[in-house]
Amino acid sequence: MEIIKTIKQMQSYSREQQRLGKTIGLVPTMGYLHEGHIELVKAARKENDIVIVSIFVNPIQFGVGEDFDIYPRDLKRDSQLLEKENVDVIFNPEGEEMYPAGYNTFVEVSGEITTKLCGASRPGHFRGVTTVVSKLFNTCLPDKAYFGQKDAQQVMVIEKMVKELNFPLTIVRVPIIREKDGLAMSSRNTYLSDELRKEALLLNQSLIKGKQAIENGEKDVEKVKKLIQDYIKTSPNANIDYVEILSGEDLSDLSDLSELKGKILIALAVKFGNTRLIDNQLVEV
Ligand code: PAF
Repeated sequence: MEIIKTIKQMQSYSREQQRLGKTIGLVPTMGYLHEGHIELVKAARKENDIVIVSIFVNPIQFGVGEDFDIYPRDLKRDSQLLEKENVDVIFNPEGEEMYPAGYNTFVEVSGEITTKLCGASRPGHFRGVTTVVSKLFNTCLPDKAYFGQKDAQQVMVIEKMVKELNFPLTIVRVPIIREKDGLAMSSRNTYLSDELRKEALLLNQSLIKGKQAIENGEKDVEKVKKLIQDYIKTSPNANIDYVEILSGEDLSDLSDLSELKGKILIALAVKFGNTRLIDNQLVEV
């Protein structure tokens, strides 16, 4: 396994693979890998000749006062995990390599898809994500790129960007990976104390309650939201950022669930102490 640090070297590696007729799968990450990332890598390994994992904590997707400085980083540990998965290359650029002095080009998907949910609480976040993901696509030249359904809005925004900017690649969604007790895997779970981690189990439990209510025929969006919110509020340390029920196709509003045939997204973001966690469930109706 190679570790490549520069854009030039990464591009020439990928061009050479293309010349040899090999397919390339990219798994973009910010490192501190967990089982969720490993599932993305396994999916990429199955479907491509070459697997590249990028590890880059992208400063421009963090807002002022967010956790960029303390975001966990451990390249040695990540490399050992990726070596075991037969990854071919880790692309691990420095901040200066991606954003040299004077850098001033950004990619933005506008409209409701980026202004709702995390877009409302984290202004500029998705612009940072789509900018770095575009740069990673132009650097690693993948045929397929793998993203987790845990970040449901992120993957929808990236799919829209890929479609509208005609990136010649396919986005593959990989289902959420959960701990045995149901907590969705996230690098940010490491911030939680034992007590808060226990309370955070309410997230998945409340989503299951919401999903069951819809599957049992509840049509009133507000009632389902309230059911979920009331359940989360039983935790003394939970601070709800949002609980939303939207179209799983385009995040449009739903006033009445009988309007819809297809996918409904129940999405939430909740803070436990300083740790903001997100989770979601897709419900087919
Ligand atoms: O999901 C993440 O880890 C990041 O948002 C991504 C896609 C690697 C871009 O920095």
